[in-house]
Amino acid sequence: MTEQPAKMWSGRFRAAPDPFFDQWQRSISFDWLLLWEELAASRAHALALSAAGVFTADECDRIVRALKAIGTDYSTKLDQVRDDPQAEDIHHFVELRLTEAVGPLGLKLHTGRSRNEQIATDLRLYIRNRIEPLVGQLAEWAQALLAQAKTAGDAVMPAYTHLQRAEPVLVAHWLLAYVEMLLRDASRLEDCIARLNYCPLGSGAVAGATLPIDRSIAARELNFIAPTANSMDATSGRDFVLEYLQVLTQIALHASRFGEEITLFATAEFGFVDLPEAFSTGSSAMPQKKNPDLTELVRAKVGRIHGAAETVTLLLKGLPLAYNKDLQETQEPVFAASAEAHKMMRVLAPFTSALVFRTARMRAACATGFLNAMAAATYLVHKGVPFRKAHEKIGNAVRYCLDKGCELGDLSLDELRQFGDEFADDFFAAVTLEATLDCHDVIGGTARHRVREALAAAEQRVQALVDRYGSVTLDQPEAAHARA
Ligand code: ARG
Repeated sequence: MTEQPAKMWSGRFRAAPDPFFDQWQRSISFDWLLLWEELAASRAHALALSAAGVFTADECDRIVRALKAIGTDYSTKLDQVRDDPQAEDIHHFVELRLTEAVGPLGLKLHTGRSRNEQIATDLRLYIRNRIEPLVGQLAEWAQALLAQAKTAGDAVMPAYTHLQRAEPVLVAHWLLAYVEMLLRDASRLEDCIARLNYCPLGSGAVAGATLPIDRSIAARELNFIAPTANSMDATSGRDFVLEYLQVLTQIALHASRFGEEITLFATAEFGFVDLPEAFSTGSSAMPQKKNPDLTELVRAKVGRIHGAAETVTLLLKGLPLAYNKDLQETQEPVFAASAEAHKMMRVLAPFTSALVFRTARMRAACATGFLNAMAAATYLVHKGVPFRKAHEKIGNAVRYCLDKGCELGDLSLDELRQFGDEFADDFFAAVTLEATLDCHDVIGGTARHRVREALAAAEQRVQALVDRYGSVTLDQPEAAHARA
């Protein structure tokens, strides 16, 4: 064991730190989650130092091997990282272990670097490491929605505006709406990577490294596009953290809308879907209950995730350049929101696959409530009636039906003619359920052949994501999350 100061910065101090303050300002209790990122960044820095002549090839090799061994040793005892009595943060922890392993050589690794650039690098790596599997998870959920859309075939349901029955749509059309949201979220996540994918190493504490390091070495080793362009920005910027949290908020929002719809659709009042027992809970009091806890929790999680984005927004507001300790406070929200997002996706895909839609009931809900009124007005438009007039005529017919207690298709031609001379025998074919669907024959509309085309196109877009990210898994860090 090598003699070394207990702290990374004690030289200038005479007084011992206040014990409570000292514990309070430390970050090891949460930044232990960055162990893998810290080891990778340290290895990249060692290679850059070696190229700059600070280490011989042999010294560099010893350091790289020791860093690897630390990762192996501690992957099964992460609690010892978190509870390390000496380490102030994960950067200090790695330096302590490295120095134990290779002696004073370990202390040389801090040459030409600062924890300010290390934490900026670790966080970028952490977020990038989680974005890729998260896109894979979004694609999996999208695949579950697509499979349901395929199974649904030509099944119909009412579409709602103002939560009032509006027009019939294919169940597949409704499901594909969520696929669109997820595809946009996936692209948002990819955008985050594009902007954060630059390497802060070599930025020093604020003004740039004090050794002529070739910064492209570390950038390349860590798979960044290039070194960051400005040392002050690199060490103090956390917009990539906020952007990631904002995208997670967006994902959680989309999930919450789905959660809310399924929660509603599972009520006796709607009765559109049977909740899978494997993903539902019972009531300790009411023996008959099957509760939609999963979708309720999904609906709720956006609160926490948005809370994380809000926290980071507030702590960045007005923060002077460059590094400030305030930035340490960005970590816990990002770790927590990230873990929540991954767990939420993990339940949503199998839950969605296990849903059973009650298509007869959904179809019955389309039969009443004048869901074909738009189609009926369109019929008159085809007869040359201006839409505004057609709207009024059908409105009058609806009023008449409401009094009589019937639907538009139940009226006789004579009854219809009270509202306009344009009504003819072909009216009845124009207001069937199928005709009502198929009159929406535009790109993005619910006409049956349009939905079939949209489904095929969405399958291809989702498959492209699966090919790209489907096999990316969250390895050790996820195990770490489970324990966090
Ligand atoms: N734990 C610190 C953080 O997360 C690391 C950087 C510390 N830098 C410093 N100058 N005290 O922000």
